[in-house]
Amino acid sequence: MNTIFQLFLIGLLLTLSKLEACNYSSKGSVQFPGNFSFGVSTSAYQIEGAWNEDGKGVSIWDDFTHKNPELVRDGSNGDIAINSYHRFDDDLEILNDLKVDHYRFSISWTRIFPNGEVKYRNQAGIDYYNKIIDKLLASGIKPLVTLFHFDLPMEIQKMGGFISPLSIEYFVQYATEIFKLYGDRVKHWITFNEPWFMCKLAYGDGIYPPLINASGIADYLCIDSILKAHGATYRRFKSHFKKQKGQIGISLNSPYFIIADSSDKDILERAMQFNLGYLAHPIFSKAGGYPEVMVKDIAKNSFLEGRIMSRLPSLEGEWKDIVRGSADFLGLNYYSSAYIRYASQPVGRNPSFERDTNYETYNKFPSQSSQSCDPAGLEGLLKWIRKEYNNVPVIITENGYRDMGELRDDNRTSYLKTHLQAVLNALNDGCNVVGYTHWSLVDNFEWLFGYTIKYGLYGVNMTSPKRDRVAKKSAKFYKKVIRSRILQMEDV
Ligand SMILES: *[C@@H]1O[C@H](CO)[C@@H](O)[C@H](O)[C@H]1NC(C)=O
Ligand SMILES: *[C@@H]1O[C@H](CO)[C@@H](O)[C@H](O)[C@H]1NC(C)=O
Ligand SMILES: *[C@@H]1O[C@H](CO)[C@@H](O)[C@H](O)[C@H]1NC(C)=O
Ligand SMILES: *[C@@H]1O[C@H](CO)[C@@H](O)[C@H](O)[C@H]1NC(C)=O
Repeated sequence: MNTIFQLFLIGLLLTLSKLEACNYSSKGSVQFPGNFSFGVSTSAYQIEGAWNEDGKGVSIWDDFTHKNPELVRDGSNGDIAINSYHRFDDDLEILNDLKVDHYRFSISWTRIFPNGEVKYRNQAGIDYYNKIIDKLLASGIKPLVTLFHFDLPMEIQKMGGFISPLSIEYFVQYATEIFKLYGDRVKHWITFNEPWFMCKLAYGDGIYPPLINASGIADYLCIDSILKAHGATYRRFKSHFKKQKGQIGISLNSPYFIIADSSDKDILERAMQFNLGYLAHPIFSKAGGYPEVMVKDIAKNSFLEGRIMSRLPSLEGEWKDIVRGSADFLGLNYYSSAYIRYASQPVGRNPSFERDTNYETYNKFPSQSSQSCDPAGLEGLLKWIRKEYNNVPVIITENGYRDMGELRDDNRTSYLKTHLQAVLNALNDGCNVVGYTHWSLVDNFEWLFGYTIKYGLYGVNMTSPKRDRVAKKSAKFYKKVIRSRILQMEDV
């Protein structure tokens, strides 16, 4: 073994052990502000089941899992899931057990508008969400409602889905009806969940429905439509529903980045713009529009490929203004960091997002079953947001740990603890973080992983028709933090 390689290995082990031990120290106060909002998150397709009951229409996830069970790790689907459509009271019981301040859930578009269009509405679906919202409020829990969490109506997909600009108007109409139905009681809305992630997997890599495999092209079109749909929805809300006094944001996912080679310093900025900045810059920056580095580099690559236009659509003029400033808060979904370095040769398919970034991720975190734990990444990300977007209010809308479902989930508990510590550190440093939402309340259908990996604070007995919920160790820990608003490191 040569010395350089040995040094490399030692460095690697040190970095990994730092990440795996998942320690994180406190910087200042251990007390959360009294008005800090603690919550948990779920989404409709992942928990509801009742996929074809009471008049619900078909979504692209119903269609995809039925036609391609081999593409889901355990061949499963969300037909029954954890049956929240019939067992919301069980969810409410555990929400009350935790005594969360807010509950983030999503509305299934096809449960209310089976064909996607607002002309035909389904009363049973409307009633279901009325019941949820009313019961949450009666328990003193604020609903934080996501309008769209991956489950596009099949009929809208037939119009081209998010590649088609028609999707913008369909979404605005859908959102408008939802505001009319529930905006008297719901005061916090999220338009879209993780557009970057969804568009990339669904329209770039072709592994999420609608399975469109056109990387560096269709994924970019999808994001463009979603940004416009988001912006137009915000404008509609502020012009037509002002009296409701609600707030609207969007949930954006982003890792933070670990740069091992200090000569690559500017790569962090580049990676942040290509990831969080891709959607956050158009909405939250003063200038608006896509990040300059993306506009420039994707245009350059496009011309080198012999195209006459950039693969990145233009977000200029009226649309730029509609999208700029179109959010009251930033919803942040953070799970872990990635190691990156400049690519020594072109990476990824040609064309693709990866190719356009011109960096490569390497030594992605350890094994499949154990997830990385990098609370410093969350703190770094929050500080980056503070600097970049004028300290916009941030609600962490997802953050969580995947495992195989142990009830004594020490790793999840320490992940939760250290990430709450990162939030506290950011707060102590002046970051405007107003809430934290753990993914997830309960084990559920994890998309292509089916039920093989778990994120819940509560487990579910999947062989029981009642789908009994069972508290894990992490639920007991979170409950204690919520009650005391103090983070005791020795609690774990
Ligand atoms: C907990 O995390 C450690 C460190 O990442 C890992 O080695 C271990 O397998 C995890 N335990 C479980 C039960 O997942
Ligand atoms: C929470 O309370 C602090 C003072 O403790 C105040 O500065 C802040 O504006 C409040 N935040 C919200 C969202 O109400
Ligand atoms: C997408 O297309 C590329 C080549 O164009 C192919 O290598 C890859 O396997 C395709 N992916 C899927 C999920 O079909
Ligand atoms: C799960 O539910 C089934 C059916 O009700 C029951 O027989 C079984 O004991 C339960 N498993 C656990 C671990 O509680």
